[in-house]
Amino acid sequence: MHPDVKEIMFSESEIKNKIKELGERISNDYKECESITVVGILKGAVIFMSDLVRSISVPVFFDFMAVSSYSSSTESSGVVRILKDLDKNVESKHVLIVEDIVDTGLTLNYLINNLRNRNVASLKVCTLLDKPSRRKVDVRIDYNGFEIPDEFVVGYGLDFNECYRNLPYIAVLKPEVYRK
Ligand code: IMP
Repeated sequence: MHPDVKEIMFSESEIKNKIKELGERISNDYKECESITVVGILKGAVIFMSDLVRSISVPVFFDFMAVSSYSSSTESSGVVRILKDLDKNVESKHVLIVEDIVDTGLTLNYLINNLRNRNVASLKVCTLLDKPSRRKVDVRIDYNGFEIPDEFVVGYGLDFNECYRNLPYIAVLKPEVYRK
């Protein structure tokens, strides 16, 4: 275990099993569709997305958006900015947003409204983690991996000050690490 980690919340195998389950549900729900355009939200969702798409049997196209709603601290600023937009037009496409975590919901709410305005055939959301106790706006999540308590987590794509994204599990850091 990494020396900064206090406890592991979800192990590699728990994440793997959950992704298999999500992939099966998604494949079944989209089985009549020609393809899905999976929109990964950079950078946190990259690792989740790369595992998730390999458990989906429907043809998948990749695109990415980068938004920023956070400063370098662990608290939301409430401001959402597009840092990178989609490469391709998604009009008439079945779009699946893939997020690492939904916290206040501000980022997702912005993304849903933004993508809905592009005349997509359908729009759904898949997140690995959901922290419902922190919600500031009501957002609909179609596929959720794990509901978690109000704890700041890292690993499996999620960062604290850009660190720990490569941990293969989801973990809570020791309190002294956040105070540094
Ligand atoms: P929201 O707009 O408050 O829902 O925040 C969503 C974004 O905040 C996520 O995509 C993450 O990048 C970041 N975030 C929220 N909670 C955590 C956490 O516990 N660990 C790491 N990043 C988080």
